[in-house]
Amino acid sequence: MIRSKITGTGMYVPERVVTNHDLAQRMETSDEWIQQRSGIVERRHVDGTETPVDLAEHAARHALEAAGVGPDEIDGIVLATLSPQHEFPGTSFFLHHRLGVPEIPCFDLRAQCSGFLFSLATADAFIRSGQMRRVLVVGCEVHSTGLEFSTRGRDTAVLFGDGAGAVVLEANDGADDRSGLLAIRLHAQGEHAKRLWIEAPGSAFWPERITKQMMDEGRHFARMEGRFVFKHAVTRMPEVLREALDAAGTKLDDIDLFLFHQANLRINEFVASSLGIAPEKCPSNIERYGNCSAASIPMLLDEVVRGGRLRPGQLVAMTAFGSGFTWATAVVRW
Ligand code: UT7
Repeated sequence: MIRSKITGTGMYVPERVVTNHDLAQRMETSDEWIQQRSGIVERRHVDGTETPVDLAEHAARHALEAAGVGPDEIDGIVLATLSPQHEFPGTSFFLHHRLGVPEIPCFDLRAQCSGFLFSLATADAFIRSGQMRRVLVVGCEVHSTGLEFSTRGRDTAVLFGDGAGAVVLEANDGADDRSGLLAIRLHAQGEHAKRLWIEAPGSAFWPERITKQMMDEGRHFARMEGRFVFKHAVTRMPEVLREALDAAGTKLDDIDLFLFHQANLRINEFVASSLGIAPEKCPSNIERYGNCSAASIPMLLDEVVRGGRLRPGQLVAMTAFGSGFTWATAVVRW
């Protein structure tokens, strides 16, 4: 049986550090409020010299290098983002050009904060069907240009950051190698699409996708019903985690590391304590990077791999929840 396996990881964040104190200069907020509600201390923002494809390229090259493969050896690129380089074509096409890959397929996948896991599932399906042997999977976000840095936008502006993470997913048909993706489960609930969204520009509007008036009203900035999202996140994340563990034939206690989407430290603490998971099994980087949506999980994965916290043979469960709503878990034997 063909199983897919992550053979390289990479991440990249822009250099510019924006602290909670920096944000408190621009809106009515405080370091105390942000840390207490979310666990975030600082995040990275682009400074005008880098765009999403720059972030994605760095992360992708690190992942390819770790996997020991060249860009000309991959069969496809799946890139998850909610903050694309341009309206169309997707960021993946700009990355395709940057990497100088042959005429392999690439596309963007839009599943917001669960986008990386949805992309991993897509790449896994290509590999298990035999259509591809090696796929580059990227999560990449530049949120900072889509947030409202004023008191009106403070509930979202303080939460999100810029960054990219990537993995190389390969076919593992070695009879002795038990490592790889054991199970992945994905869900969505479109009825809550407007609870966390950027409304405009959009083709839903006529005769133009965005107007000056809509911009004055701030309808091109992220809007969220925070409490509602929080409540659903802490319900759905344990649900899908248990579902994927069952599918993988593993138990909660067997898992060595839980990589939760980095939306809010309080959400992850709530999920861990409700399931009786020890906090030391739940690494986080939200305090340094904020919520990087589709990039959060691959960034955290790269950190634990390079930091030696995830070792061959160990089991890791990755769980996300986000706009859509979407939620997902992947269980991987490293
Ligand atoms: O990545 C996708 C998934 N996203 C999430 O999972 C995020 C889920 N939601 C959350 O993490 C939390 O709901 C937040 C961190 C966004 C907000 O925390 P909360 O405890 O739910 O606060 P709240 O929205 O109920 O707001 C409480 C108060 C309000 O003031 P009043 O009405 O009580 O006077 C807000 O206006 O806090 C105020 N507030 C702020 N105050 C200082 C909202 N944002 C800020 C801010 N600084 N940045």
